[in-house]
Amino acid sequence: MSTVHVAPATAVRGEVHLPGDKSVSHRALLLALASTRPVRIENLATGDDVAATLAAIEQLGATVERFEDDPTCVVVTGVGLQGIQPPADGAPIDCRNAGTLARLLSGLLAGQPAGRTFTLIGDDSLSRRPMRRVADPLSELGARVETEADGTMPIVVTSGGPLHGGEVELAVASAQVQSALLLAGLGASEETTVVEPGVLRDHTERMLRRAGATIRRRGSKVSVDPIESIELPDTRVPADPSAAAPLIAAATLLRGSLLRLPGVIDSPGRSGFMDVVEAMGGRITGSNRREQDGEPVVDLEVQHATVGRIFLETTDVVRMIDELPVLALVAHFRRGEFVVRGAEELRAKESDRIADLAQALKRVGISCQPLKDGFIIRGSSVRPDGGTMEAAGDHRLAMLGGIIGLVSRHGVTIEGADCVDVSFPGFFDLLDAIAVR
Ligand code: S3P
Repeated sequence: MSTVHVAPATAVRGEVHLPGDKSVSHRALLLALASTRPVRIENLATGDDVAATLAAIEQLGATVERFEDDPTCVVVTGVGLQGIQPPADGAPIDCRNAGTLARLLSGLLAGQPAGRTFTLIGDDSLSRRPMRRVADPLSELGARVETEADGTMPIVVTSGGPLHGGEVELAVASAQVQSALLLAGLGASEETTVVEPGVLRDHTERMLRRAGATIRRRGSKVSVDPIESIELPDTRVPADPSAAAPLIAAATLLRGSLLRLPGVIDSPGRSGFMDVVEAMGGRITGSNRREQDGEPVVDLEVQHATVGRIFLETTDVVRMIDELPVLALVAHFRRGEFVVRGAEELRAKESDRIADLAQALKRVGISCQPLKDGFIIRGSSVRPDGGTMEAAGDHRLAMLGGIIGLVSRHGVTIEGADCVDVSFPGFFDLLDAIAVR
């Protein structure tokens, strides 16, 4: 486990080409596995999570061509929508730390032709995370998806011929579960409809449309028709807004900052953090809005701003679920209480992102009261002291530690900082490159 120290900075400045979006990268690889024609994917996320998906699709029969001069580019020759076979050597599919892979792949495999059994395993952290949330709704479509008795991995998917489809109401506001159901629905005999309890990231529905599937959206309901084959066109993955969030926080909080972040995904399911920071008085300017391979993107320019009051509504939480830790830091810089409720999902992430966040913040001088379903930040508008904190095996907490280091008085030492590689290898070097000291 590595330890990293991030010293205070007076500003952050520069133009940053962020990694490709993690959510879109997973989906592009899985749809490439199921495509009939080879797919070239550029600007693929280089983190460990997406590496796990690359390894998984190879285990399931895809051929992946890599390029020495560009590790973010691959050409995937898949096996077709109905051609996914369990590994010949009988090995389980190792999803490592990647919850998105475990859930989406369960859906894709559930719709395979009858008689195939797939076993999915994960690392210690993933093996503690809840999987019934995906197994139960897939069973409602007629799939056989089993977990351990306590609802954890291994997941065993036994395909049994076409699923019957139908309408499933999501019990958890999870884009991963919604995506698993849509992917399973490709292999059903009738239409599959998912009823969503909140605004979810919509990458799966956008990408499935590009790949030729028939998707209908009516308000909070999204439906997919069965289809024989799909063909994902070549895809360039746009920049990851969850990787942008810590940098946006640093630029907002440090006087004299100016950051340019080109080509970042800007859809309602992903822009929650930016919307709240703007509503607090943040200066985030978007220009050159356009579509990149099915995703709306924008060039962002972020400047320092004094942040003011806002109360975060429960309905917004899912739109910024991965950004709540870094939002807690922004909230520290405004006077008064900042209350996050309705976010119990945080407890089921790569760490317990309520308990571990509160613990980490306390150690660097930020007051955070954990709640069952969220937390309260009592802002002081004073730079936190800094100190030593634990990343708790969670890449989002490691990145948060880096940003607190920049805005703190004495810097922050992050223990177990290497888990940042899950989504953003090179994050700490990047901080050094943009920090003005
Ligand atoms: C993701 C959805 C979110 C998010 C995760 C990626 C996705 O999880 O936290 O990092 O790619 O669909 P849930 O769907 O469980 O909320």
